[in-house]
Amino acid sequence: MSISAEIAVGELTLEQAAEELARLAAEIHKLDVAYHQNDAPLVSDAAYDALRLRNVEIEARFPELVREDSPSRKVGAAPADGFGKVRHAKPMLSLDNAFSDEDVQDFDGKIRRFLGLSAEEPVEYVAEPKIDGLSISLRYENGRFVQGATRGDGVEGEDVTTNLLTLKDLPKTLQGSAPAVLEVRGEVYMARADFFRLNEQRAAAGEKTLFANPRNAAAGSLRQLDPAVTATRPLSLFCYAQGEIGEPVGDTHWEFLQRLRSWGFTVNERSTVCNNAAELLAFSSTLGTDRAGLPYDIDGVVYKVNRLDWQRRLGQVSRSPRWAIAHKFPAERAVTQLLEIRTNVGRTGAITPYAVLEPVTVGGVVVSRATLHNEDEIKRKDFRAGDWVVIQRAGDVIPQVVEVVREKRTADLPEWHPKDHCEICGSLAVKPEGEAIRRCTGGLQCEAQVVERLIHFASRDAFDIEGLGEKNVEFLHKSGRIKSPADIFTLAERESRPQLLPLKNQMGWGEKSVSKLFDAIEMRRRIGLDRFIYALGIRQVGQATARLLALNYHTLINWRAAMEEVAADPEGAARQHLVSIDQIGPSVADDLAAFFKEPHNSAVLDELQAQLTVEDFVSTVSADSPVVGKTVVFTGTLVTMSRDEAKAQAQALGAKVAGSVSAKTDYVVAGAEAGSKLKKAEELGVTVLTEEDWKALIQ
Ligand code: IVH
Repeated sequence: MSISAEIAVGELTLEQAAEELARLAAEIHKLDVAYHQNDAPLVSDAAYDALRLRNVEIEARFPELVREDSPSRKVGAAPADGFGKVRHAKPMLSLDNAFSDEDVQDFDGKIRRFLGLSAEEPVEYVAEPKIDGLSISLRYENGRFVQGATRGDGVEGEDVTTNLLTLKDLPKTLQGSAPAVLEVRGEVYMARADFFRLNEQRAAAGEKTLFANPRNAAAGSLRQLDPAVTATRPLSLFCYAQGEIGEPVGDTHWEFLQRLRSWGFTVNERSTVCNNAAELLAFSSTLGTDRAGLPYDIDGVVYKVNRLDWQRRLGQVSRSPRWAIAHKFPAERAVTQLLEIRTNVGRTGAITPYAVLEPVTVGGVVVSRATLHNEDEIKRKDFRAGDWVVIQRAGDVIPQVVEVVREKRTADLPEWHPKDHCEICGSLAVKPEGEAIRRCTGGLQCEAQVVERLIHFASRDAFDIEGLGEKNVEFLHKSGRIKSPADIFTLAERESRPQLLPLKNQMGWGEKSVSKLFDAIEMRRRIGLDRFIYALGIRQVGQATARLLALNYHTLINWRAAMEEVAADPEGAARQHLVSIDQIGPSVADDLAAFFKEPHNSAVLDELQAQLTVEDFVSTVSADSPVVGKTVVFTGTLVTMSRDEAKAQAQALGAKVAGSVSAKTDYVVAGAEAGSKLKKAEELGVTVLTEEDWKALIQ
């Protein structure tokens, strides 16, 4: 225990307080794990309460020191497995972010291009405040509220129906006529005054923990296992979007918002129709000025294309709609001292520098690390350890170091130089000419890369193994239990009794937690090809590319054979086929080849195949789509839609879109002024369709 523990809270210096808060966070976390997961409390309740009380008292005296991992921030969140699961009838999407005026103009430009609109044609938007709460989906059947769920991972959320019933803003039955099935999406939030009042009441009642901000208070209050507790919390609700809906409601989003009001929902009164990008920017600037005076927290504004038919045509890219964007308020900034420059090694060996900072509060969050991007940036901006620097943080993005405060540099500070060896494994670290990033060449000999790759492998969008987060992966790797991805699937076998005991004790886990992890692993022995490819963590192969590969190669056997050919013959047909896939270029092909050239990676694949069933890729498109699995090339100028829209539509129908024509092409859709691709199609005898033929085909 540190010496500061004996000092009365009122007498702590700033340094002692910071040190003490760090110690308390670690200590309380350890006790929580022992109590909740291991069912084995390490100290008496009174001793535990005293620690939490001391934590709050110190935080009350030094609010600027409240840590991100403070126990006071974790209050109220019920264990996630306490609620039933709800599969959303339509996925709950998230939004792409715009940070600058330019980003907003780009958003408008992309929409116009996608829809093939002329510069004169007006595009209406609805601009709305972006409420800082938690999103929920509300289901009504025949005018009655039947179920409410949190967003969860967007596909599946938690059933919080009973808790939602306690909200005054939630209509239990709808006024007037409404579609028989109606899903409404909105945001549960806590008004600022309610938040302060709640914290005051808690303090007065001798509660040891206060909420850090209104959003945490709202989330903690809604996710209470006991609805009676939620009922005592002042939660509010704004509604702003549709989920599944039995029959169309109006032609525009604006009309939908009016209908929401007529049924009895609360719609934010600041929502407005804007006629162009300039009006959107004016809206955000006005709202930015009014922000502090609003009774609730907002973290930006949301712009949505008003016409619903356009929204449908625009569709979505991975998890965000093309027709909406969140415009975040400008980043909040602060000045602090850069204590040290360190580096991180990522799963692909990328070495990225970051700054260790004197902790500082930016926008309500304590920041002690920030990214420095890459070594060229450090050189260009001349960051040195000991400098005072400006840092900024916007929304949920990683804090960044922006610039040096030159006037504050007094001493002669040494320049920073990158090391030419990896700090973790000692292998050569090289930075190719013209590239911004230095990489460790140690591959899987490098501990950092192995651990990062394992973390990626188990992460949500990959194998999604609950319980195998960063900390546990690190532990399981360090203790020699998991060296390569396939080891995850033999863990249970190897750790069965009597070895289970050491695993339990070292992890501070209860038997239940261990068996839960084993169950979670077992559930993932079957996996779709797209997730499998993504999980391998190949450079430049993100979710979208993994999906394209799965769509085009269909089975693991096919894909693997093709990639091995690509690796063996850089000029061969396999490579030509690969780069002919729309959106896959030579640089991605090079990275795939590099991965398959590495004998170690082949071994990893063999081991995994022995453990898993990798399911053939099935597109979510219904099997009666006439173009499922067909390879299509679009060329020339189309009349009724842009080429981007045509491609997106074809992909949504399960077709593979290629950028060049080959014997494997099924259709070439030729618009006006089609050139060499049309000629090649004719030479090869590939079916050529006009735009009209194509539309008739997919009708
Ligand atoms: S629309 C498909 N409108 O922001 C569109 N979202 O960063 C779905 N949010 O998950 C969202 N205010 O929780 C929309 N007026 C608003 C919003 C809003 C807050 C939240 C919502 C969403 C998140 C995305």
